[in-house]
Amino acid sequence: MSRIQYRKMDFRFDDDIPFQFNPSNIAFSDAVNALTLTAPAFEPYFIKAFRDAMPLIRDERLRAETRLFVQQERQHSKHHIAHLNMLLRKVPELEQVRDDVNASYARLYETKPLKFHLAYTATVELAFGPIARFIIETRDVLFAGGDPRISSFVLWHFVEEFEHRNCAIDVFRAVVGSDLYRLSQVQATVEHLRETSAIVRRAFAALAAEGKIASSRESPIARTPLRDRRRLGSELLGTLAPWHRPDRLKEPAWASQWLSAAAAGEPMTLAYPAAR
Ligand SMILES: [Fe+2]
Ligand SMILES: [Fe+2]
Repeated sequence: MSRIQYRKMDFRFDDDIPFQFNPSNIAFSDAVNALTLTAPAFEPYFIKAFRDAMPLIRDERLRAETRLFVQQERQHSKHHIAHLNMLLRKVPELEQVRDDVNASYARLYETKPLKFHLAYTATVELAFGPIARFIIETRDVLFAGGDPRISSFVLWHFVEEFEHRNCAIDVFRAVVGSDLYRLSQVQATVEHLRETSAIVRRAFAALAAEGKIASSRESPIARTPLRDRRRLGSELLGTLAPWHRPDRLKEPAWASQWLSAAAAGEPMTLAYPAAR
């Protein structure tokens, strides 16, 4: 059986969900909104890169896994767009941010070669392994008090990010080969990510200054235990090693439970917080 499963989800983003989904943690709510403003641009960027890489992948098992990766990412993007449309109904000024982030990824695709796009995708997807583990394991600090519809949606996304954490580096190694090229492009990758996150941050600051959204000076992960933050830092550094194997990362117990419940056909649209 493939390491990746495609699951069709049915999230709803009703207008009674607050713009900042967790009023008790504005900084983390902003981080979730920033993800929703950028994912509909970077996930299709990954998909485009994989589509272009597909004819170059010889291994049938990897081709099958890549198709499932694309299906998962396409669905992440679809739900982020639905979430984003709800945010835009509340704060239409953010349409410009969406357009600027999309334009930035379109420019990147036009101006760089396929091997860069595969390196970028692998670097980001490798980072999502430890980030997913961190978010899932510190979920009670980050999501408690938040709207369960958004919490469940974001946690689903990270469970699947954890599940498909191997695919992008496998594609990169199969098509481009040496991790040294990927490492030589990490700085350009980080600079581009900084550019898009600055577009979002500037917009949030301007909206907060006008009193249109709440603001917080806290780091989105300030309240998480120090040992989890330390482990996140060291695991992120580990993804930069040329011999890095994401399948060695330990699956969080909550993710394993989520995956078995989903496999058993349970509805997962309100998986967090679980009924106690
Ligand atoms: Fe995703
Ligand atoms: Fe992903």
